[in-house]
Amino acid sequence: MSALSTLYSDHHRVCDAAFADAEAAGVEGRWPDAEVATTRFAGLMEAHLSSEEASLFPAFEAATGMTHGPTQMMRMEHEHMRALIARLQRALTAKDTDEFGGAAETLLVLMQQHNLKEERMLYPMCDQALTGNTALETTARSQLVS
Ligand SMILES: [Fe+2]
Repeated sequence: MSALSTLYSDHHRVCDAAFADAEAAGVEGRWPDAEVATTRFAGLMEAHLSSEEASLFPAFEAATGMTHGPTQMMRMEHEHMRALIARLQRALTAKDTDEFGGAAETLLVLMQQHNLKEERMLYPMCDQALTGNTALETTARSQLVS
């Protein structure tokens, strides 16, 4: 794995860990903890998704000319994830453990599938297309907060 793959894959793990904290607190009805953990998770996810959309994907599209390929599919899945994160936040506000658990379960499956597609297919393609793009690496490093 080269730098971009490593950066973005490692950040998936940071988001996954934050998700696990939020899910555990929410399904157990520990609402103050759930609020802190969900807010942290939502912030990390937004940093991740917007870094891909603003930096990684446009660089890949410019280098390959593939503007309607995998990046388009990933952008659509990002919108689906954002909608589920919003649902999670609404369940939190309503202190609804069942709804929180349902949204978390759906989101987990989507995130797992999405991350696998990126890590097995898109990130390696990005590595190949963008090798030596150190400016992009520096930008990504600053965007992928933990
Ligand atoms: Fe993504």
